[in-house]
Amino acid sequence: MNFKKIASALLALGIFTISQTVFAQDEIDKKVDSVLSKMTLAEKVGQMNQYNGDWEATGPVTKDVGNKLDEIKQGRVGAVLNIMGSAHTKMFQDAAMQSRMKIPLLFGQDVIHGYRITFPIPLAEAASWDPDAIERAERIAATEASASGINWTFAPMVDIARDPRWGRVMEGSGEDPYLGSLIAAARVRGFQGRGLGSIDAVMACAKHFAAYGAAVGGRDYNSVDMSLHQLWEVYLPPFKAAEEAGAATFMNSFNDLNGTPATGNKYLQRDVLKGKWNFKGFVVSDWGSIGEMIPHGYAKDNAEAALFAVTAGNDMDMESRSYIGNLEKLVNDGKVPMSMVDESVKRILRKKFEMGLFDDPYRFINASREKSMLNRPESREEAREIARKSVVLLKNDKQLLPLSRQLKTVALIGPLAKAKKEQKGFWSLDIDPNEDIQSVMEAMEKAAPMTKFLYSYGCNIDDQTKSGFADAVETAKKADVVVMAMGEAPDMTGEAKSKANIHLPGVQEDLIKAVVETGKPVVVLLMAGRPMIFNWTADNAQSILYTWWLGSLGGGAIADVLYGDYNPSGKLPITFPRTEGQIPIYYNHFNTGRPGVSDKDVFYKSAYIDLPNSPRYAFGYGLSYTTFQYTDDDAFYSKAQIKDNETLKISLTIKNTGQYAGEETVQLYIRDLVSQPLRPVKELKDFKKVFLQPGESKKVTFTIDRNMLYFYNDNLEYVTQPGDFQVMIGSASDDIRLHRTFELTN
Ligand code: GLC
Repeated sequence: MNFKKIASALLALGIFTISQTVFAQDEIDKKVDSVLSKMTLAEKVGQMNQYNGDWEATGPVTKDVGNKLDEIKQGRVGAVLNIMGSAHTKMFQDAAMQSRMKIPLLFGQDVIHGYRITFPIPLAEAASWDPDAIERAERIAATEASASGINWTFAPMVDIARDPRWGRVMEGSGEDPYLGSLIAAARVRGFQGRGLGSIDAVMACAKHFAAYGAAVGGRDYNSVDMSLHQLWEVYLPPFKAAEEAGAATFMNSFNDLNGTPATGNKYLQRDVLKGKWNFKGFVVSDWGSIGEMIPHGYAKDNAEAALFAVTAGNDMDMESRSYIGNLEKLVNDGKVPMSMVDESVKRILRKKFEMGLFDDPYRFINASREKSMLNRPESREEAREIARKSVVLLKNDKQLLPLSRQLKTVALIGPLAKAKKEQKGFWSLDIDPNEDIQSVMEAMEKAAPMTKFLYSYGCNIDDQTKSGFADAVETAKKADVVVMAMGEAPDMTGEAKSKANIHLPGVQEDLIKAVVETGKPVVVLLMAGRPMIFNWTADNAQSILYTWWLGSLGGGAIADVLYGDYNPSGKLPITFPRTEGQIPIYYNHFNTGRPGVSDKDVFYKSAYIDLPNSPRYAFGYGLSYTTFQYTDDDAFYSKAQIKDNETLKISLTIKNTGQYAGEETVQLYIRDLVSQPLRPVKELKDFKKVFLQPGESKKVTFTIDRNMLYFYNDNLEYVTQPGDFQVMIGSASDDIRLHRTFELTN
């Protein structure tokens, strides 16, 4: 087989560039070295500099700066962000082509959950427990973005988060390292598709490295203080998964970690990422985070900040101007070796070659592709599908749901019943200001044309006004069923949106109470980017759907679930606390020396005396319109052993014992009963999604192998330890239906 011939054929097809062929890397390294050898120090520093565009800021804007296009023409800029569309990107690439070296720009953008079509927020997508669906969603996002001049997305955000007060919990995959790792890898695969250099691929960027989600108090940008053991056990796994999936870039984080800002953290960037993990891509700072080492109190000025950052392994400076203003002098003064600058520039240039930008700087800038690839019907259907899968049914007393299309009158009440653009949530892009988005009410009217719909706004999202209550109550009284669309404002979660009070805002729960007290059956839809607290509603509303922010197709997806066109299958990717006082609360905790048995015995127990120890809703929880029975297939199962590379199979039968077809996510948790250091009371290690017709049964088999049992010991060695293990299989982390034990003998 002649690789050269294949390569030429692939190149001729225009789908792949030189970087996709087998002899690519050596070729590319030679080309990188050749370009580098012709560059001045100033031009090298220029490649390490990233500016924001002038239309949209996603961070504190630096005032009184020069003309960015002129700086690009002078070779002082290697990448830009927040510049979208073929017209704008062409303007900036034209400027780069006027520079002496003509090195093409990278165009970065926060394509966090969709580009032209907005998908559910990442935390909602995580509730689907469907990495394949998530990968398809990112593939669509990348196809749209790469057709619009973008070749780099600042995603996936893979920060583990156990604190719903933190506004950026909406951007990640929740609290679990295993689920978070699967999703991190799926997102990277989705963005990078057939590989860098493919015309519909964008570079992924695993962020925020690292442990940004563990900010003290859930306050954004706040300090993080944790053992290296917890860092490796809980917060690094999704980054490792992203790196193994081939993430082209990493972004470091605003927080300090154990006293060192992540941007200046050599342990994270050089020892772990570029050393132990042998990462070959490049690291970009977060917006201004190099310069922020000054307010951190870690650097005395921008020159020192630049020194610390480049020494620690930060390759590109987003918007702090520390590198462009100081790095040349630091090299000339002998404080930074030229080799260190060269290493960063080579990493950046290598990605530009792999993306095919040296072959054709304008390959992602194509107005006709932009027109044809955006907002395609099949992409919209995919967005509606994953939105349906993201909805979590929290409660459904007396099978109120699904609603019948024969209902005579339904009342839609609440501040989000007619919400449209709000459904896109934070980190969504307004590519088309005239985007047509269906509200829940419009979608329901379309789904049930025989039904008369009444409407009442009820109350604002977040104030104390109750003047709309009377109308809401009167409207409810005229209906057979009431659907209330309640929740946060979309800008109540996201960056710099931490909240000390995460109760359902304003007087919304009073409104729910007033409507429930009419005695009408009430379905509550809760839209938010984080777990909220809504105890009265949880105890008294008949049905509750947690719909997060479901994106451009959210209204239709919610109607599909309400009318049973889709039987909800979502499972919570994060624990819901009963009150803020319980935070942090998560399922994979240690047992402590006084775990206690029930919520009743609070004496000498690690518990609050004024609150049950259990959460409001547990990790992995989610109901269905049907029910599933778990039957143990190995009733005579004897205690098994695993030695060396043996595996252990555990089978059970799942039966749909209800009247609706539906999908169950069967979860497998493992506990290492005795270990040094301690292991959590349970850890998610696998899950299987099973779709069953009413009355149908299927056998589900899990394979347990040694790889599931590794952990970091006190020396941070990744090891297994002989001993007894418990296997727990269930429908949620607190709904275990089947127990087993086995012994690892060596
Ligand atoms: C923001 C965010 C980061 C984002 C970057 C560019 O401050 O922290 O996630 O990618 O700046 O918008």
